[in-house]
Amino acid sequence: MKKEEVVERYSKVFPRAARVTYASIVGVRAKNAKVWDIEGREYIDFLADAAVQNVGHNNERVVEAIKEQAERLIHFTFIYGFPVEPLLLGEKLREISPIENAKISLGLSGSDANDGAIKFARAYTKRRTILSYLKSYYGTTYGAMSVTGLDFEVRSVVGELSDVHYIPYPDCYRCPFGKEPGKCHFECLEFLKSKFEGEVYADGVAVLFAEPVQGDAGMIVPPEGYFKGLKRILDEHGILLAVDEVQSGLGRTGKWFAIEHFGVEPDIITLAKPLGGGLPISAIIGREEIMDSLPALGHAFTLSGNPVASRAALAVIEEIEEKNLLRRAEKLGKQAKKRLEKMKEEHELIGDVRGLGLMIGVDLVKDRESKERAFKEAKKVVWRAYELGLILAFLHGNVLRIEPPLTIEEEVLEEGLNRLENAIRDVEEGRVGDEVLKHVQGW
Ligand SMILES: Cc1ncc(COP(=O)(O)O)c(C=O)c1O
Repeated sequence: MKKEEVVERYSKVFPRAARVTYASIVGVRAKNAKVWDIEGREYIDFLADAAVQNVGHNNERVVEAIKEQAERLIHFTFIYGFPVEPLLLGEKLREISPIENAKISLGLSGSDANDGAIKFARAYTKRRTILSYLKSYYGTTYGAMSVTGLDFEVRSVVGELSDVHYIPYPDCYRCPFGKEPGKCHFECLEFLKSKFEGEVYADGVAVLFAEPVQGDAGMIVPPEGYFKGLKRILDEHGILLAVDEVQSGLGRTGKWFAIEHFGVEPDIITLAKPLGGGLPISAIIGREEIMDSLPALGHAFTLSGNPVASRAALAVIEEIEEKNLLRRAEKLGKQAKKRLEKMKEEHELIGDVRGLGLMIGVDLVKDRESKERAFKEAKKVVWRAYELGLILAFLHGNVLRIEPPLTIEEEVLEEGLNRLENAIRDVEEGRVGDEVLKHVQGW
């Protein structure tokens, strides 16, 4: 098949609700940080398959585990039976989790993990109200969609869970309270307190949902001290802290869980994306008493705990441990950020470079003073990057998403950054016309 034919047939079969495209790449083969399309073109993948391939595309250990398990037992339902593989995975997740004596619920996607977290939190606290952040993203099932703070047209059409309130995320580059980094008094935390005085009955709040690094909002890293201050306020009112590590977890930021950078222990963690190395599997990790609060079948799926996906997940975790990928993410992240900071000195289009480990955002602006988002330019950079053989995406319309596999070879990372810089230069110097804008959808 030709690329154009595949793209055309896609539009006939799949509704737009299921997709958002940046460039039409028909991937047919992949290895570590490289992807080949149907026409044999090679790309460097700075998107890691939407932060799925932390241990690299088609990682050998993962492929072997899948093959071996598929030949022996593809499925034996976890709901009625006792397959061994999800047990081994659950025990391993307990071992790496920062929550003492956690219990684990397995599912299929980040969205269902967040839905489950809402149920566990409400059941345990016997409270209804949920706090979340503006511009957060938790997924598209009803619960996850309802706590998502990104402006979602779909919610106005299909409705949502009630009793959800939003607060601003601590974004020090575009502070919602107009403050300068290091010169504020955590007005964002004061705002939460004032919400409890005037709008929300604090002792009726079950849980606050947070991404430790806000991904789809544009890779926003909270300042030192924020989460500690937040946890103090939550503890005062018996409110649980649920952290969504779907994008930031499993080594992406240089630690197993990004929340570990901030010195607080959450009550619930959700995981998905990289967990199965590309197979659908998610996990809710929570304090034992919280996870024991729902009745039988209160959160269960026929295919959860699937042995093949569980073996793949075990292989992902072993690979991170044996190849010391936490350290590698930290090291390569520093290298990439240094290079991007240097690019910032030379390219006015770059307003800010931020991130933890290999979860990096490059904020493109029209003007460094006003920080006006450079939406059109971001689309053009992504398009030119694609033409130069680099898979790239943007978040919040203007923040380039740099999330390669943690296993990317140093020279491939360097080459990817060269292509990125060339794309930025081409856009700045007017070599990418407006006609490409129609090709890039993004969000
Ligand atoms: C932080 C975060 N949470 C949840 C999700 C939803 O995960 P899934 O698409 O597997 O349902 C995503 C997906 O992008 C995400 O980035």
